[in-house]
Amino acid sequence: MADGKEMERARRDLRALISSKNCAPIMLRLAWHDAGTYDAKTKTGGPNGSIRNQAELNHAANTGLKIAIDLCEEVKAKHPRVSYADLYQLAGVVAVEVTGGPTIDFVGGRKDSMASPEEGRLPDAKQGASHLRNVFNRMGLSDQDIVALSGGHTLGRAHAERSGFQGPWTRDPLKFDNSYFLELLRGDSTGLLKLPTDKVLVEDPQFRKFVTLYAEDEEAFFRDYAASHKRLSELGFSPPSSLRLAMKKTMIAAVVAVTVVFLSYLYEINKTELSK
Ligand code: HEM
Repeated sequence: MADGKEMERARRDLRALISSKNCAPIMLRLAWHDAGTYDAKTKTGGPNGSIRNQAELNHAANTGLKIAIDLCEEVKAKHPRVSYADLYQLAGVVAVEVTGGPTIDFVGGRKDSMASPEEGRLPDAKQGASHLRNVFNRMGLSDQDIVALSGGHTLGRAHAERSGFQGPWTRDPLKFDNSYFLELLRGDSTGLLKLPTDKVLVEDPQFRKFVTLYAEDEEAFFRDYAASHKRLSELGFSPPSSLRLAMKKTMIAAVVAVTVVFLSYLYEINKTELSK
């Protein structure tokens, strides 16, 4: 497992890569699609790097994500001890940060898997509110998480050849802000993209509450987005707590100290025996 210093170096390399290639949107989509397959009941799927498996990459929802996987490979080659699972989630966090979004708490330690879930776990953009709830509740996420995380569409665009939809959701798709919600409330006349699953967020009264809140209060959006993004990135993963890490370090220090004392004792005995 990579230590904190290596993770920090990978983070710096991701920051440079994402800024120079302007690829924040597709990196965020990669992180979300690796995590968003989680099923809380069977504890399968989730942020485990399995999206790099060709079978999973071939799922219709993942069309185009090979670009992001290949970009991450450059960083993986330099930091082989960082797992793919951590690397993809770190790329998502960095993508939000470098485009002006909130800081998202990141803890490494995810394990890699090549076990891909069956196709169909990610949401279908053509469906309605109950589909969105089914998919996100399956992950263990709430209405508020659905709306806050949909704000990720403040970045990027749809590509006709990938999803059949076309165009950006906002006027500046490389800036992470609350404009996705402002545009949603403006309705169809803006010429900007609105997927059926985006429109549902203003039509359903429970979802709409959060849309209005985030359109009026960017701070509230950033705070809730950071919390929801962290939950998404940690589905099925219990980060090693700092207390556990501290205890591990203390144990290692104690074992080293006892060994040193024991070795010096043996050395002393040997010396006494030899001098007899
Ligand atoms: C709520 C259900 C969601 C649906 C149905 C959905 C659907 C889509 C679709 C159809 C695209 C266009 C893909 C393409 O043609 O390139 C897209 C792009 C994108 N999605 Fe979502 N999405 C959802 C949630 C999310 C979430 C939770 C995030 C992140 C937190 C996210 C981040 C993105 C980003 C950043 C892009 C742009 C990618 C690019 O520019 O290449 N989406 N999404």
